[in-house]
Amino acid sequence: MPKKQVINISKPKGKLAVLTPGMGAVATTFYAGVIAVRKGLAQPIGSYTQLGKVRLGKRTENRHKKVNELVPLAGLEDIVFGGWDIFPENAYEAASHAQVLEKSLLEQIKDELSEIKPMKAVFDKEYVKRLEGSHIKSGPTKMDLAEQLQADIRNFIKEKGCDRAVMVWCGSTEVYTPASEVHASLKSFEEGLRRNDPAISPSQIYTYAALKERVPYANGSPNISVEMPALQELAQEMATPICGSDFKTGQTLLKTVLAPGLRNRQLAVAGWYSTNILGNRDGEVLDDPGSFKSKEVSKTGVLDDIFSKELYPELYSDIHHVVRINYYPPRGDNKEGWDNIDIKGWLGYPMQIKVNFLCRDSILAAPIVLDLALFMDLASRANMRGIQEWLSFYFKAPVVKQGLRAEHDLSVQLLKLENTLRFFTNEELINHLGLTYYGVEEEDN
Ligand SMILES: NC(=O)c1ccc[n+]([C@@H]2O[C@H](COP(=O)([O-])OP(=O)(O)OC[C@H]3O[C@@H](n4cnc5c(N)ncnc54)[C@H](O)[C@@H]3O)[C@@H](O)[C@H]2O)c1
Repeated sequence: MPKKQVINISKPKGKLAVLTPGMGAVATTFYAGVIAVRKGLAQPIGSYTQLGKVRLGKRTENRHKKVNELVPLAGLEDIVFGGWDIFPENAYEAASHAQVLEKSLLEQIKDELSEIKPMKAVFDKEYVKRLEGSHIKSGPTKMDLAEQLQADIRNFIKEKGCDRAVMVWCGSTEVYTPASEVHASLKSFEEGLRRNDPAISPSQIYTYAALKERVPYANGSPNISVEMPALQELAQEMATPICGSDFKTGQTLLKTVLAPGLRNRQLAVAGWYSTNILGNRDGEVLDDPGSFKSKEVSKTGVLDDIFSKELYPELYSDIHHVVRINYYPPRGDNKEGWDNIDIKGWLGYPMQIKVNFLCRDSILAAPIVLDLALFMDLASRANMRGIQEWLSFYFKAPVVKQGLRAEHDLSVQLLKLENTLRFFTNEELINHLGLTYYGVEEEDN
């Protein structure tokens, strides 16, 4: 039998810098939420690292541990926030502008939020057409801009007395630009940075800078950064964890709960029409067709995989899947999503499902930023490098090794995450066979 691999995870020590390119609605709701929880003003609802529990051992043992007691995660009190934005407002001003959290809460944490000031951003209007900012770096080449970001990271860690850092992209969605020649290898990417190749986007420059500094990087948007070979090669070379892409928050979260349920019962689907109205800055950015295209790709991929035409031609060979996002200012951050699902049952008889989710975009995204920051720091201390597929749970379009299919089913993603935490702590993996309870011998329980 192959020897079981034992993972040694170093204990977190000192402060952890959580750096977010982008200090808009999601990032400021994340900072504010962690500060509010630290002060005992609110509960970290929605955060698996803070509230989740993992079953250990056999069911008869009735043994469960809180995630943050099972694995050595950094504590909330040890997080130091930092970020970059194209607008100079501090986090208190940006959070007030975003209008996600009530003024009464923001006033109680005003001092802490006001101290979080954005560093100057690397920005290119060609990639986010609806924004115009003034707080932007300049430099002769994209390589020079990357080096400026690297210096920002080092200075931040030094000035704030941090031990280490992680980066979570919370910036705007960039115009859809699939990977091209310049993204094919690290060598061609670095040459591209030196000669200002227009196909290199700002988010790719941040990712490059983070990885060069051995800072784990999670991509919260559908931008193409850790998704392409050059930066995956760099992550391997620098022995640094990466994951992405696009936080799985509202409509897509529900899709990856509902769709596997329909498929598991072998119900057919003729069409799935999803529409959203959204009035925040993200909605304004996504009103540009180029940025919307990035979102459309990550949102539609989910159903292609769950309703596989190849595996189930009788059920899913002709699905009409449509996703729309309409910018509608009166709603602000409170997005409304509608789904109409046309399904077919026994003998092809049609039925319909309607889902109307009145959600709050950044309220759903903030705990994901926290979990990703803590888990990516854990992965780094566990000496994990490259793509962290076990964090697929958090993403609309999980990054996986080339040639592998991404797993989209939320409950399967959770099993993978839980087993990874058991693996990290040398606990027995659980395969849910459960025959030992009925007298059949098996290796695992
Ligand atoms: N809220 C959700 O439910 C959710 C879900 C999935 C993904 N996302 C993604 O998360 C990201 C953030 O969403 P949001 O609602 O906070 O948007 P937002 O518009 O409120 O904030 C984005 C911020 O990024 C800044 N920015 C843009 N380009 C930048 C750059 N190159 N460098 C530094 N800053 C830059 C903008 O000025 C803005 O302040 C978006 O890409 C969004 O698509 C959000």
